[in-house]
Amino acid sequence: MKPATSVLALAGILSGVVATPDPLVQRALPNAPKGYTPSSASCPASRPTIRSASGLSPNETSWLETRRDKTLNSMKDFFNHVTIKDFDAVNYIDRISSNSSDLPNIGIAVSGGGYRALMNGAGAIKAFDSRTDNSTSPGQLGGLLQSATYLAGLSGGGWLVGSIYVNNFTTISDLQTHEDGTVWQFQNSIFEGPDGDSIQILDSASYYKDISNAVRGKEDAGYDVSITDYWGRALSYQLINATDGGPSYTWSSIALGDSFQQADMPLPILVADGRYPDELVVSSNATVYEFNPWEFGTFDPTVYGFVPLEYLGSKFDGGSIPNNESCVRGFDNAGFVMGTSSSLFNQFLLQVNSTALPSFLKDAFTSILERIGEADNDIAVYAPNPFYHWRNETSPAASNKELDVVDGGEDLQNIPLHPLIQPDRNVDVIFAVDSSADTEYSWPNGTALVATYERSLNTTGIANGTAFPAVPDQTTFVNQGLNTRPTFFGCDSSNMTGTTPLVVYLPNYPYVAFSNMSTFTPSYEESVRDDTIQNGYDVVTMGNSTRDSDWSACVGCAILSRSFERTKTEVPDLCKQCFQKYCWDGTTNTTTPASYEPTTLLGAGSTVVPALLASVITTGFAILSAL
Ligand SMILES: *[C@@H]1O[C@H](CO)[C@@H](O)[C@H](O)[C@H]1NC(C)=O
Ligand SMILES: *[C@@H]1O[C@H](CO)[C@@H](O)[C@H](O)[C@H]1NC(C)=O
Ligand SMILES: *[C@@H]1O[C@H](CO)[C@@H](O)[C@H](O)[C@H]1NC(C)=O
Ligand SMILES: *[C@@H]1O[C@H](CO)[C@@H](O)[C@H](O)[C@H]1NC(C)=O
Ligand SMILES: *[C@@H]1O[C@H](CO)[C@@H](O)[C@H](O)[C@H]1NC(C)=O
Ligand SMILES: *[C@@H]1O[C@H](CO)[C@@H](O)[C@H](O)[C@H]1NC(C)=O
Ligand SMILES: *[C@@H]1O[C@H](CO)[C@@H](O)[C@H](O)[C@H]1NC(C)=O
Ligand SMILES: *[C@@H]1O[C@H](CO)[C@@H](O)[C@H](O)[C@H]1NC(C)=O
Ligand SMILES: *[C@@H]1O[C@H](CO)[C@@H](O)[C@H](O)[C@H]1NC(C)=O
Ligand SMILES: *[C@@H]1O[C@H](CO)[C@@H](O)[C@H](O)[C@H]1NC(C)=O
Ligand SMILES: *[C@@H]1O[C@H](CO)[C@@H](O)[C@H](O)[C@H]1NC(C)=O
Ligand SMILES: *[C@@H]1O[C@H](CO)[C@@H](O)[C@H](O)[C@H]1NC(C)=O
Repeated sequence: MKPATSVLALAGILSGVVATPDPLVQRALPNAPKGYTPSSASCPASRPTIRSASGLSPNETSWLETRRDKTLNSMKDFFNHVTIKDFDAVNYIDRISSNSSDLPNIGIAVSGGGYRALMNGAGAIKAFDSRTDNSTSPGQLGGLLQSATYLAGLSGGGWLVGSIYVNNFTTISDLQTHEDGTVWQFQNSIFEGPDGDSIQILDSASYYKDISNAVRGKEDAGYDVSITDYWGRALSYQLINATDGGPSYTWSSIALGDSFQQADMPLPILVADGRYPDELVVSSNATVYEFNPWEFGTFDPTVYGFVPLEYLGSKFDGGSIPNNESCVRGFDNAGFVMGTSSSLFNQFLLQVNSTALPSFLKDAFTSILERIGEADNDIAVYAPNPFYHWRNETSPAASNKELDVVDGGEDLQNIPLHPLIQPDRNVDVIFAVDSSADTEYSWPNGTALVATYERSLNTTGIANGTAFPAVPDQTTFVNQGLNTRPTFFGCDSSNMTGTTPLVVYLPNYPYVAFSNMSTFTPSYEESVRDDTIQNGYDVVTMGNSTRDSDWSACVGCAILSRSFERTKTEVPDLCKQCFQKYCWDGTTNTTTPASYEPTTLLGAGSTVVPALLASVITTGFAILSAL
């Protein structure tokens, strides 16, 4: 990154907000025994083990049964306002409800792309959430979130998912309020730290000290730390509504919330990539890991196992914890998990030398870099490696005491589709919100879908039973405008290498604002934040169906498509028209397209296009800016 951008990149990133403590809440719990420091605890009677990835966890399986009734009712609500001409979808859902495997199974995936992805994704979630004012009006999509079984996030999209779930499945409207001390205060600068003049209690100096002390506490307790520990702590001040960025909040505590246990919300999943010790560029066949509320692990044939998340940090060896070792808890800090999925943004902190950050922080980062080397500055170190001596024959990490995990977008699969195409999850339709910065001006061009599609073709290797609909190359995406409007992939389920969901691709596109800020723009005025969220709302609703009056009905058709096949139901005429309109027709056009510079569709965009900034970054930082 060039100096000019690094200064910008710093302004605002470490800023944060500290709200008043609320210790009694029944939500993601501050349940780590010793704050940020993992600590030994006695093992439960049946000692934690790694399980094979040959199926879903018993926790997920039983939770899904509870969730099914909730999504059933939510879908009926949804189809009460999203009507399909000459077809009674509510009646259809009722009719098939006795056989739960006939019901649609919906996943939502929110891509990476820093704050741009968080905000554009937030607009999508806001539009899908029946709790948003007016979202259940005609032409809108409120209730899709309540109807979904899974919500996956990656990197910047993972910040979004984490911020919602760690804050008791809060709403986007509540996260973006303008009151002092509320959560999403992205205008605050990295150097200021939390505001000192409102309900926040810390000044900048103690903000840095607190971050540093938290990480040092983990290190002093004998755990290797990486820049991601600092990054995750800093991020927490931006995303978690608790004093000091909630150092005791764990990702596994999401599973302990009352409403989560009643399955009142979709299952949240974050994605990160494995990186092998001798590998600096993450390849497309990297192992893809997921964090769900119960487990960390992967369905990939390499490691093919899951560890109980609560006990991450314990010294597993060959899949179990030796009798002379105790169980460790508190390693799965929620900010560390979000930081892992977005470890690329360690870059923000690494500009430390060109800033006025306190020297103790510069020293801390420098000493980490000396230990791990510049080339490894994006890793999140998981030591002890839970998969030590696990699957010796196929796991490249089996003989390592540390597991290196990186940003979930580094393999170019920047949309977290991987958890949602696992055959065991039986997802029928994925709403894939893409805020990637692929093109010169930071718009998506299908690269994330291409990466997942290509990976799925290795049927004897890394794909391991997953399949993905055929998608064209990126020039076709641009030439055919497939990145300017929603596009469906996989409409024809007979044209597949295996069972795949229908993918509803929802690319970032300017409706009312230029939402193509650079991935590394670190601070946003509230008005820009709100405009970008509004634009994301319009991206997924097509401007509340003003761009196409059938759009909300077509979303309904996409939801029902696989279910129609299973129940051998005649596809309604309107749905046929929708598929005609939105399904990729299988043709390609690979002539070199002109520069892609869309203008706002529904009126003057209010956000400044940081095109110059984007291109400066692209020059120096090509791969990174794509994420
Ligand atoms: C969490 O959200 C649920 C559902 O909205 C609500 O009933 C509960 O009171 C909330 N808990 C807290 C502590 O805010
Ligand atoms: C997950 O399942 C295991 C065993 O089936 C059980 O002991 C544990 O309590 C469950 N976890 C949660 C958070 O429900
Ligand atoms: C909701 O709709 C009402 C009536 O059309 C309107 O007055 C109100 O401003 C809308 N609210 C939002 C958040 O758009
Ligand atoms: C943040 O916490 C404060 C104090 O407990 C609460 O009033 C507010 O609603 C919370 N905001 C969100 C988005 O959860
Ligand atoms: C990944 O693919 C490359 C070839 O593209 C191959 O050399 C390498 O062994 C593969 N790695 C794994 C872990 O499958
Ligand atoms: C900061 O600068 C010093 C002196 O040039 C250098 O040794 C150190 O590695 C730098 N630290 C980082 C984090 O770049
Ligand atoms: C894996 O390798 C280690 C070290 O060589 C060995 O001790 C262990 O028994 C092996 N595990 C299996 C299941 O083969
Ligand atoms: C698509 O994006 C990739 C980066 O993700 C870029 O290398 C490629 O040139 C772009 N192609 C088009 C046609 O925009
Ligand atoms: C497919 O996967 C296998 C095993 O993971 C690997 O050896 C091979 O190189 C991969 N092929 C491609 C084309 O990536
Ligand atoms: C996935 O990988 C595991 C571990 O290598 C293997 O046992 C299983 O058969 C594979 N599944 C498919 C469908 O290929
Ligand atoms: C599906 O259709 C696409 C586009 O027509 C084609 O390229 C692809 O090979 C087909 N795939 C299968 C498995 O039939
Ligand atoms: C869509 O509806 C939402 C909520 O009702 C509203 O805030 C927004 O301005 C509408 N967008 C358009 C383009 O009409």
